[in-house]
Amino acid sequence: MSDRLWWKHGVVYQIYPRSFMDGNGDGVGDLAGIRARLDHLAWLGIDAIWLSPIFPSPMADFGYDVSDYCDIDPVFGQLAEFDALLAEAHARGIRVMIDWVPNHTSDQHAWFRESRADRTNPKRNWYVWRDHKADGELPNNWVAMFGGPAWHPDPATGQLYLRSFLVEQPDLNWRNPEVERAMHGVLRFWLDRGVDGFRIDVIHRIAKDPAMRDNPPSERPGPGWGGQLHVYDENHLDIHDFLRRIRAVLDEYDERAAVGEVGLAPAQVASYLGRGDELHLAFNFAFLLEPWDCEAFGRELALFDASVPPESWPDIVFSNHDIPRHATRWDHPQLGEARARAAAVILLAARGTPFLYFGEELGMRNGEVPPERRRDPLAWTLHPNASRDGERTPMQWSASAGAGFTHGDPWLPLAADWLTRNVEAQRADRTSILWLYRDLLALRRRTPALERGSFRLVPAPGGVLAWERRHDRSRALVAVNFGDAAQSPGLPAAAVRDGVWTRAGEPLPSDAAQLALGPCEAAVLAVDV
Ligand code: GLC
Repeated sequence: MSDRLWWKHGVVYQIYPRSFMDGNGDGVGDLAGIRARLDHLAWLGIDAIWLSPIFPSPMADFGYDVSDYCDIDPVFGQLAEFDALLAEAHARGIRVMIDWVPNHTSDQHAWFRESRADRTNPKRNWYVWRDHKADGELPNNWVAMFGGPAWHPDPATGQLYLRSFLVEQPDLNWRNPEVERAMHGVLRFWLDRGVDGFRIDVIHRIAKDPAMRDNPPSERPGPGWGGQLHVYDENHLDIHDFLRRIRAVLDEYDERAAVGEVGLAPAQVASYLGRGDELHLAFNFAFLLEPWDCEAFGRELALFDASVPPESWPDIVFSNHDIPRHATRWDHPQLGEARARAAAVILLAARGTPFLYFGEELGMRNGEVPPERRRDPLAWTLHPNASRDGERTPMQWSASAGAGFTHGDPWLPLAADWLTRNVEAQRADRTSILWLYRDLLALRRRTPALERGSFRLVPAPGGVLAWERRHDRSRALVAVNFGDAAQSPGLPAAAVRDGVWTRAGEPLPSDAAQLALGPCEAAVLAVDV
């Protein structure tokens, strides 16, 4: 299909580079490692990869603190290695998105070093500096998402700088046109190299209230992030102008795309798509917060579908590097595996671009990371339980030492189940969740209704979620039994031509009306119109 757009009709796979594959035995994943594993991704059938940050960084926030936007951190490789990865991915038909972090730099970035050098430095206004109030108080009541006040004192110049996350991550001043120009230059640097697009970090924070008013208290007032309504420190309307200009840069090139991390409610998230002239995609994070619940899933699918403007396209995310893996969040003593399989059906049969987090195709759970091995700074700036290390444990490739991830000492411990839950073991088992993902990806690609069709919930008995997808003469029916008892979804009568279900090794019914699902089973049926 010539009008197939990779970011719209394809599936994106997120790689957390530190944890995917270590090519040089230092225990940390790298670009050479990713190159060596491209065949796994090609075999799986994804269309694009997104690499979490690979740029030079002191790693205070593991790469989300960038000290040079136009190079590669030595822990991951060099630019030549990146070019080779890009070429080899493209040779397999895999697009490459990189992570662009526009809201803040590292405090070790040359721009910030200059900015903090003295009050008259030409780069002073590249960041947000303020004086204490006359009474010695902070400029306003804003707080950092990662703990503490948003204002950090800089004794050398006697002023405070704004930071939305760690102290080591000062916020850039996007209201300074020089910053905007420089950041567009960063985009062009990578676009010229051939990257296919960007995942944009916390885009809803790049512009704040110019008057810097205090945020009002939330219903649960308190000193932390949740104690305030974030009215003035994020989501300023001017962001849409910045986004239209970012989009214009991308549109100078063919078929490039941006997906934004917008940490807001679904309708606000959808507003970042503009009229097809801002982001190409904005992450739908609704499922990161929902329990395994039929009604909640139906509501969220319908809500985002309705919120996304007609010129744009939805997407769906269950896991990423910031939140416990969904197989852990939705785990269950008996039905955990079944739920993980059903989740694969939902992710790949909903309307919108699916984003898969590495290891999701194995049903990977969070790893146990004991306190002395914790690496994520949130464990000490916020709370030991806030650590995101559990969802960042290494990819499980095989049952050999280091799980096939490294010959050295892995930077985070392997999850407990690596000996049995790994790519090698699951490839040898036709009934594994890995094969289910592969079968679903292949079905999606050969079924226009699944890749690009409309979405409509269809009536189903309690505890069953069912929907229809349609595109021209292609039609698919999807049913998911969320409950712990067998159910007949009662789908409309229609001859089944093709399909995949979570019950491995058994034929599909010949008519959709006959479909019967066991506890937490799910099916996608391509049917006659
Ligand atoms: C985003 C990233 C997260 C990072 C934060 C600050 O939320 O996904 O990992 O810590 O931004 O850059």
